[in-house]
Amino acid sequence: MNKFYVTTPIYYVNSRPHLGHLYTTLVADTVINFKRQRRFDTFFLTGTDEHGQNIERAAEKAGVDVKQHVDGIVAEFQQIFSEFKVGFDHWIRTTDDYHKRGVSALWRRVKKNGFIYKGQYEGWYCVGCNGFLSEDETIAGPDDIPICKIHERPLERLAEESYFFKLSALQQTLLDYYESHPEFIRPESRRNEVMSFVRGGLNDLSVSRVSVKWGIPVPDDPAHTMYVWFDALSNYITAIGYGNEDRGGEAQFNKYWPADLQLVGKDILRFHTVYWPAFLLAAGLEPPKTVYAHGMWLSGGRKMSKSLGNVIDLSILRRHFTPDAIRYFCLREMVFGQDGDFTYEALLDRVNADLAGGLGNLSSRTLTMIQRYCDGRIPAPGNAGDDLVGQADDVRRAVAQALVDFDREFNLYNFSRAIEAVWTAIQRVDKFISDAKPWDLAKKPDLREALNLVLHTAVQALRHFTVILAPVLPESTQAIWEQMGESGQVRELPPAQLEWGEIPDQSIAEVKPIFPRLDKAKVMDEIKQEEEAKTAELAPAQPVADAPTAELPARMPVAMVEEPAPGIAYISIDDFAKVELRVGEIKTAERVPKADKLLCFTVDLGEPAPRQILAGIAQYYEPEKLIGRKVIVVANLAPRKLRGLESQGMILAASVGDEGRPVLAGFLEDVPNGVKLR
Ligand code: MSP
Repeated sequence: MNKFYVTTPIYYVNSRPHLGHLYTTLVADTVINFKRQRRFDTFFLTGTDEHGQNIERAAEKAGVDVKQHVDGIVAEFQQIFSEFKVGFDHWIRTTDDYHKRGVSALWRRVKKNGFIYKGQYEGWYCVGCNGFLSEDETIAGPDDIPICKIHERPLERLAEESYFFKLSALQQTLLDYYESHPEFIRPESRRNEVMSFVRGGLNDLSVSRVSVKWGIPVPDDPAHTMYVWFDALSNYITAIGYGNEDRGGEAQFNKYWPADLQLVGKDILRFHTVYWPAFLLAAGLEPPKTVYAHGMWLSGGRKMSKSLGNVIDLSILRRHFTPDAIRYFCLREMVFGQDGDFTYEALLDRVNADLAGGLGNLSSRTLTMIQRYCDGRIPAPGNAGDDLVGQADDVRRAVAQALVDFDREFNLYNFSRAIEAVWTAIQRVDKFISDAKPWDLAKKPDLREALNLVLHTAVQALRHFTVILAPVLPESTQAIWEQMGESGQVRELPPAQLEWGEIPDQSIAEVKPIFPRLDKAKVMDEIKQEEEAKTAELAPAQPVADAPTAELPARMPVAMVEEPAPGIAYISIDDFAKVELRVGEIKTAERVPKADKLLCFTVDLGEPAPRQILAGIAQYYEPEKLIGRKVIVVANLAPRKLRGLESQGMILAASVGDEGRPVLAGFLEDVPNGVKLR
């Protein structure tokens, strides 16, 4: 029997689960459903990454013991995944004893093979990333302290004794490996990105910390704890018995390793396609067959993440949508590998158009007609005229083609296209029914055979769709399956065993709606209110001098406020629209002679010529480090002269602390010059 081993990243326990975590897990679960249905011996691993300074600090902040803190979050992840019917085989926690033994065994082996040595490390460390960052992962910050691009916070300078992994020695080995294993990094664009990064040269990697206590001690040198990524990445092998007997030991390891598919977000691509294979090769182990890096769900145009405060709340999502609808949306809406913007509107549209209007409608109209016109028994195909027989045959072929297309695209991890192929066939069947008008045929007893052929064809198609979509819509396909009068679990029937023409004369069960249509305006209204209530709950109480016992909700949108509340000088949206904010790119930056505070920039606003803009930030920023930086510019401010130089706009910055330290506003994603902010 073929085996298939799938993993997700193990999630950090310093924040609560959100749609991003759920996404990777649902994709992995759907792949496992697909393989299980096709009789693979499957293994699905997910879990939590529980060590590191970040987690230690989060627990400190919450004022609880670290283990107690992480236990609570692990339970929350497990609860969410079980609500979404995720059928993992094992949940690994890096605080599990067997994992610690397994990682120690890996460390010893890598060290014995000569790939670990002791040295001194100094660098810029981001607590959010749990790692030292290279220059291209940072942006210039005030006082020459770089800022992490992802977490937007200043880095810490760390110097300490450290063990190093000889990554530099593996540069060519890795490049050869990528060359000879084109399937190792998917999609292709990511493979190219990683290869050019590795071609650029690799530095040895610091793999231990003396400053971090919450971690796995280095074997024979417990003053050091292992670098969290060495600890975390090893989970993929310790969970299947590497270096420990608890998880099945060598037999289990040899059975499932190498993993067939390791799903990760593109945010952790480098760890999985450079460090991870390097650790494995250094230990004499095979790298996984494929690491697939998918794109990110964006919210409001930025990566959804806890630190940016723009995550989609799973409790709100669950209140309005079924787990199947959310899973379907995740796989259908996002082109796998690319980023996608999450909006509730798009989710509602998919539910109404594809599920209620597509599969749901086909199922209910077909089964209701069988109930009504055939006493609830599935008719044998009637001996109708050539024309109708020909059309029914076309439908059968379209369904067979959808099966082939679905499998082909799914095996390439093109989930969206795989699903689209089925929906094309659903539309084909719908059209067949609408053209044949069974409701008219039912009125004439001499057209009984034609009616039987139409309904027989429709129900055969529905049966095929139900089987093929079982991995993607596990609960709703089972419900349709049972309404068709079938028994057993649809997800266990391999599509290859489907035969056209099975089940005539079977009685169907009671017909109930599978995907009720949602009232878009009403649901959007409810979601908005819930989100506002949530924000108000989280917002710190604002002491307002002499505030009346205002009955205003904490976050009332400005446009709704008729009477200005005391203490806030509201402006109208029209006033705001008068300010023209645009994206600019700093092209040159120089100090202004005899002006301690001023820098003079030329800024590209996408106009024919760049503008000259002055800003009083010279005490906080080195001009040369700002070149290339994207900034926000007030583009319609009347020009004025400063020290004899004309300033043709204003660059926006936050003003921090009593001294008003400027921190330039900017973007995490790349934005074209000149784009308007609104
Ligand atoms: N603990 C590390 C992974 C170690 S694996 C050996 C980690 N954890 S995490 O909690 O930050 O999870 C990151 C992963 O969650 C991403 O790689 C991705 O799989 C998923 N996602 C988190 N946010 C996401 C989006 N906004 N969109 C899509 N997936 C996202 O990194």
